[in-house]
Amino acid sequence: MSDDESLKVVVCGGGNGAHVLAPLLKSRTGVKVGLFAPYGEEASLFRRGIEEAGGILIRGRGDRPLGRYAPDVVSSRAEDVIPGARLVIVVSPAFAHEPLLRQIAPYLAPDSIVGAIPSRGGFEYMARDLLGPDITLFGAQTLPWACRTVEFGREVRILGQKRVLGLATSPPSQVGEVAFLLSRLLGVEVCQIPNMLAVTLGNVGQVIHPGIMYSLWRRDRNALYAPHEVLDFYASVDEDTAYHLAAMSDELVSVARALQAETGLEMNHVRPIKDWLLESYSQDISDSSSLARCFQTNSAYRGLKVPTVPAEDGKLRLDFQSRYVSEDVPFGLVVSKGIALLTGTPTPAIDRVIRVSSSWLGVEFLKKGRLKLEGLHQSRAPQRYGINDLKQLVSVTEGGMITREVLARV
Ligand code: NAI
Repeated sequence: MSDDESLKVVVCGGGNGAHVLAPLLKSRTGVKVGLFAPYGEEASLFRRGIEEAGGILIRGRGDRPLGRYAPDVVSSRAEDVIPGARLVIVVSPAFAHEPLLRQIAPYLAPDSIVGAIPSRGGFEYMARDLLGPDITLFGAQTLPWACRTVEFGREVRILGQKRVLGLATSPPSQVGEVAFLLSRLLGVEVCQIPNMLAVTLGNVGQVIHPGIMYSLWRRDRNALYAPHEVLDFYASVDEDTAYHLAAMSDELVSVARALQAETGLEMNHVRPIKDWLLESYSQDISDSSSLARCFQTNSAYRGLKVPTVPAEDGKLRLDFQSRYVSEDVPFGLVVSKGIALLTGTPTPAIDRVIRVSSSWLGVEFLKKGRLKLEGLHQSRAPQRYGINDLKQLVSVTEGGMITREVLARV
């Protein structure tokens, strides 16, 4: 694996993250890079953009050009890109993980390494179920960059870069090898996390995104903004929002502690949100005196707006079905809630946000503290995969297959 000349890496996805990852990998000497972009017309848009512009230009802070590179092959057909791949990196919202893995599954070599950046919650349950026992899975805690596509297939801007990328594997014994490989390929420091359960519970997106949407909803759910008035998403965090975010984060830490006490799985990487922010953005936060100030003064977050949709008279209203909800609730909070039910840990702050966002998404995830079947099947909660006790949870976390002898009792 140290020989980059023979290493083939495939990026799956076509959004902002894929626009950074595919050219960035190509900037590493010798690596062969494929881009699998099956969504809509994205593959042909990529091919056209890359051909006309001569590659995808990555810009860093202050619009500094960092280089223009093109993947070797771009296709909407898995059979064109996946065969021969040693490493497959999915970079897409979590709701696209399963459709992407279903398409690549028939073409994967049994010894390949497949993972998602970021994995969000419960990636390994879905992936192990789909890909079988031999593939090494990995999940990263977050995307290393805040980034936005400027022009499809031609240009992307990196707004900020996290200092460290947390990463775990299934089976956990592979983490050293995969961390070494990804650190070298991505040019970021990778922190090895002992198991993917800690990545699921330590996923801060599930706290920050739905938590801020919940607070905006409480503040003024019908707010209308002229285009120039749309709030900065992260700078909108006030003391009240910070209170809710801290409560949700503390509940996840409690679930992690209960898991560690009952199973022995190491969960120390599940940290309170403020600690995570300070570790990830030490260079970017100018005032760390409170959680709210950490958000408000983080320069890496600057300019990222609250999600909106068009409303009447050219105004915009809050989009409560945006990725910040449709990804981070079913593939974040609901997964963590499923784990909390297995440890018997109460999560009132998380429950509140799940209940309100259920009404936004039109899917009931929770009723009387139990997961509802309807919502379960649209989530990656362990119960969806027949994991109904801590013994099964530990077994899957250690790389085992899911045994479906026990049907989901929800
Ligand atoms: P994005 O919103 O740009 O991704 C959209 C892309 O996902 C589409 O263009 C398409 O290629 C793919 N997609 C959507 N539905 C699909 C389907 N049904 N089947 C196949 N493909 C489908 O996402 P982005 O910004 O690249 O983010 C990727 C991940 O990184 C997400 O989990 C996001 O929450 C996370 N993240 C992103 C950050 C950013 O600054 N862009 C920062 C931190 C985390």
